[in-house]
Amino acid sequence: MGDSVGDYRAAYHRSLTEPDAFWLDAAGAIDWTTPPSRALDASAAPFYRWFPDARLNTCHNALDRHVDGGTGGDRVALIYDSPVTDSKASYTYRELRDEVAVFAGALASLGVTRGDRVIIYMPMVPRAVVAMLACARLGAVHSVVFGGFAPKELAGRIDDAKPKVIVAASCGIEPTRVVAYKPIIDDALAVTAHQPDHVVITQRPEQTAELGPRDIDWDTLVESARPHDCVPVDATDPLYILYTSGTTGRPKGVVRDNGGHAVALAWSLKAIYDIGPGDVFWTASDVGWVVGHSYIVYAPLLAGATTVLFEGKPVGPPDAGVFWRVISEYGVKALFTAPTALRAVKRVDPDARLVRDHDLSRFRTLFLAGERLDPETYHWATEKLGVPVVDHWWQTETGWPICANLRGLEPMPLKPGSPTVPVPGYDVRVLDESGNPVPAGQEGAIAIKLPLPPGTLPTLWGDDERYKQSYLSTFDGYYLTGDGGFIDEDGYVHVMGRTDDVINVAGHRLSTGAMEAVLAAHPAVAECAVIGVHDSLKGQLPRGFVVLKAGVEVHEDVLRDELVAAIRRDIGPVAAFRDVSVVAGLPKTRSGKILRKTMRGIADGRDEPVPSTIEDPGVLDALRPVLKRP
Ligand code: COA
Ligand code: AMP
Repeated sequence: MGDSVGDYRAAYHRSLTEPDAFWLDAAGAIDWTTPPSRALDASAAPFYRWFPDARLNTCHNALDRHVDGGTGGDRVALIYDSPVTDSKASYTYRELRDEVAVFAGALASLGVTRGDRVIIYMPMVPRAVVAMLACARLGAVHSVVFGGFAPKELAGRIDDAKPKVIVAASCGIEPTRVVAYKPIIDDALAVTAHQPDHVVITQRPEQTAELGPRDIDWDTLVESARPHDCVPVDATDPLYILYTSGTTGRPKGVVRDNGGHAVALAWSLKAIYDIGPGDVFWTASDVGWVVGHSYIVYAPLLAGATTVLFEGKPVGPPDAGVFWRVISEYGVKALFTAPTALRAVKRVDPDARLVRDHDLSRFRTLFLAGERLDPETYHWATEKLGVPVVDHWWQTETGWPICANLRGLEPMPLKPGSPTVPVPGYDVRVLDESGNPVPAGQEGAIAIKLPLPPGTLPTLWGDDERYKQSYLSTFDGYYLTGDGGFIDEDGYVHVMGRTDDVINVAGHRLSTGAMEAVLAAHPAVAECAVIGVHDSLKGQLPRGFVVLKAGVEVHEDVLRDELVAAIRRDIGPVAAFRDVSVVAGLPKTRSGKILRKTMRGIADGRDEPVPSTIEDPGVLDALRPVLKRP
């Protein structure tokens, strides 16, 4: 446990009753070129802004100030450990700052300036972090795209963000194959209306890329580049855009600002994760997800800690002991990963024999998020690792935890199945369909009373209306999280799952709506539904159901293969879509809405009542045996 144990209730109360004072205090942890005189700007509500009169540079706060301060320059900022390429490296704060400054100079030489967008399409290599921080240094806006997405998904993000430059690696390494990135970028750019000026490629020895006229080799580019200073920006300027799955096929461009983000992340690392300068913090995720943005890159560096960048899978290579090896080798104090990663390890090494090979004496806490932490995994990890296993709940939109057990503020008793209590800054409520609070223990929609705290999304990129319509229009004065759940008698929040068409596959957030759009585009398909069903490893897996157009003659196996291939081609392998059934009809309400929730319940083995709004109960009866199939 941490040294600075405080009082959760007092901090929570103050954060809601005196948000200005609370967050101005927290802002003291950040270096400002113009310090904030006030915290919250509600003048354009429901579009709230934080630290409206302040200026800073996020890269300066993540790197330079630790170097310039004189004490931290030689401290290790980043440890790279890549079992898939059998390589390791480490960078001190000074080394990382110098590399970032030069790459910022390189981007500037390509015309990138404050406010320009840069898409980063890279695997878990140090240069991905360098590229992100170089953008921050220039006041440019990065948008990292996860490597498991297909060209079409990348194309959508390019057309929305309109990047001046794309920074990429020649390939990513999956345990079973090398994924060439350049052809994916070329395919994406073949269909985008927007064209970047340049594509910068870092060549990896496992597979180099052939460069075309607008492509530039990273090494060649930096040869002539000069280090670039940090460019101060408004606290309210965007730092990054991160696209996430919504309920439609079009992803949402979540915007993150500079000032609120820096303050909130620095505060969270100490209060929630109990990590401070010099501590080794490891988030086993990917820089393509929000977890990677916040807790691989920004928070640990803002705090002067050491971050581990791990390129690999929890089950190896070389084996399912790799997590324990990394923890022991680098003296990791806290690991943050997704429950699915532990389930994968447990499947291979149920007795956790491989833990015994490693010295975990410096390991203090395991943090899990990204999906519901099932009690079985919680108990297994607690027993096998002998450290507190801390569930915490948040989402791309918030950028940092909404509910947590605040290990550095006031550790509280852990309850399996609950991410504990609302984090200071988040006024969490459970509401019924009319927007009224429900009694303790009763399930409803989890909403957060506005304003959201610093670091959360101020809007969606270029689309204020969609921001309002998606999150603020259901309950007046509240942000809709999209999750359902309840608050128990002790004030502990229980998050039970999404109430919309977002699913969570191995901790990866995906849209069933996007998958349905791909299936519906097949010439043989009249209508379709995709639902997320329970999976003991990945939490959820998508299952598709298609109704054929009248008169279409097609071999069902051939059609299935084509549909699986189409999702892989248009969304990407990360969708893990393998299961599709041809059915006679889909159950609908009289107004034509497909009863996906009822389908999902039956598929998950629940006794679903037949909704009173159903058009034809016979269709549901016919589908039942297909849905129940294990
Ligand atoms: N680039 C290219 N392809 C990728 C990719 C990437 N960055 N990441 C995943 N893929 C591919 C995989 O190769 C796999 O392809 P396949 O269908 O050809 O096998 C597919 O996408 C699914 O990948 P994944 O979800 O990783 O499943 P897996 O079966 O390979 O591994 C786990 C399962 C549980 C070990 C793995 O999902 C895991 O470690 N999850 C941790 C979750 C996580 O980090 N979540 C982030 C939020 S905290
Ligand atoms: P993402 O935006 O990818 O981080 O996914 C966010 C979604 O993942 C949330 O809206 C939840 O549905 C789910 N999620 C994340 N963490 C948890 C958790 N600890 N418990 C339950 N669900 C979670």
